[in-house]
Amino acid sequence: MEILHVSAECYPAAKVGGLGDVAGALPKYQQLAGAIAKVVMPAYQTPFRQQHTFDLVHQGGLWLGHDWYHFNVWKENGNSLGFDLYQVDIPGLLDTPGVYGYPNDTERFLAFQVAVLDWLNEWQHQPDVIHCHDHHTGLIPFLLRYGYKYARLRDIASMLTIHNAQYQGQFGWDKLYLIPSFDLWKSGMLDWGGAINPLAAAIKCAWRVNTVSPSYMEELLRSANGLEGLLNAERDKCSGILNGIDDKVWDSSADPMIDTRYNGNDAAKGKKANKEKLCERFGLDPSLPLFVFIGRLVGDKGADLLPEVIGRSLEAHPGKLNYIVLGSGDAHIEWMLQQARQHTAGHFAVFIGYNEALSHQLYAGADFLLMPSRVEPCGLNQMYAMRYGTVPVVRTTGGLIDTVTDFGDKGGFGIRFFQATAGDILHAVGRALELYASGTKFSKIRKTVMQLDHSWDKAAQNYLHLYISLK
Ligand code: ADP
Ligand code: GLC
Repeated sequence: MEILHVSAECYPAAKVGGLGDVAGALPKYQQLAGAIAKVVMPAYQTPFRQQHTFDLVHQGGLWLGHDWYHFNVWKENGNSLGFDLYQVDIPGLLDTPGVYGYPNDTERFLAFQVAVLDWLNEWQHQPDVIHCHDHHTGLIPFLLRYGYKYARLRDIASMLTIHNAQYQGQFGWDKLYLIPSFDLWKSGMLDWGGAINPLAAAIKCAWRVNTVSPSYMEELLRSANGLEGLLNAERDKCSGILNGIDDKVWDSSADPMIDTRYNGNDAAKGKKANKEKLCERFGLDPSLPLFVFIGRLVGDKGADLLPEVIGRSLEAHPGKLNYIVLGSGDAHIEWMLQQARQHTAGHFAVFIGYNEALSHQLYAGADFLLMPSRVEPCGLNQMYAMRYGTVPVVRTTGGLIDTVTDFGDKGGFGIRFFQATAGDILHAVGRALELYASGTKFSKIRKTVMQLDHSWDKAAQNYLHLYISLK
């Protein structure tokens, strides 16, 4: 079984969020399960590209409308990820320092997909499955079926994983001329709501579709940012497979990015040492319980609620807790968080930006991780937090339902709340403080969460079974 994953992100080569983590880990575990898994991604100008060496494996050229682009496909030659990593380099389009957020993102990812298919057209032995991730790769299943150039690839099974249906990559029909020629009778397969919608096209054309947790799959049938009708129509080929985590990268007993390493037996001591280090850096009192938020500062993550929650909880429990927020995103939320520091001095610190090492240090040093997500297809943070003995405080939604139970229920180990409102979150924070004050109960829960197995082994098998069913 040979699988080619096509993804816009792949950790450690490039990561913006959980998609990068998944594309960097799932193939590794598929290899361990006996399959051949490869990843192809864009060759952004990230530090990874400078720090690793690559072999040129293919050269080509493509038309994007009236513009001609030369492209190269490079293969990382140190096997540093545990699987073959290919990078598509298109000067003038993909050689950017960042991953997304450029005005020509439509053109960038369209060219990426065309280059991948042109390159694949040249392979002597085709892979069994092309596994596409999110809308940036959503036109591939369509082109495999109807693109004139790709007739010899028709028998390759295509699979789409929806990591987040909020983002669909729509663009106007005026850009149709950018797509390589295809059977125009099939234009309707590209359309959703009067625009070309790559995510919708992939849901229609891929042989199978899955999303990253069973509960989010159920949610999508009711609410999918406009795609719910389509998903209901295609529901027979859709399923939910819960993500795993790379427990080699996220391991408190071996993590090179944290100060003091620890395991389940010396967690209290190890976490205390990591918290002290963090608090020293951010000017906080290490004897208090520490709540952290790590993530994209956007409404879907409930990040807009943080300033109010932080302000009101520090008023309600003066001198009783600390917060650190790590994230970047919406400029207004960033500004509100900076402002909130003025009246929460000594109890709240914020780091605006992306910092992989700091995220590890926060999972290790915190007592509680706050995730008030409005939408959370799976969520990896809560699983990382638990592996480091940090108790998750999460909204009951999507993958958070499938990974976190409430300590008030039999056998439960986290804290859950229902509404993405400051009131509900404040109540949950109050429960967390009571739990922290209980001492022994808190230590028991910490031990329980560290022992949970969220590794990729099971999910990697689930994906392999799905691929086998396609043959
Ligand atoms: P999403 O993909 O929706 O952003 P996930 O929970 O699946 O959410 O994954 C988020 C990933 O990105 C985690 O690995 C998290 O630690 C990381 N992350 C998010 N924001 C930051 C940041 N500002 N600095 C470092 N890591 C971050
Ligand atoms: C998306 C989702 C997140 C999920 C990640 C990896 O970015 O927002 O919930 O964990 O993809 O699948």
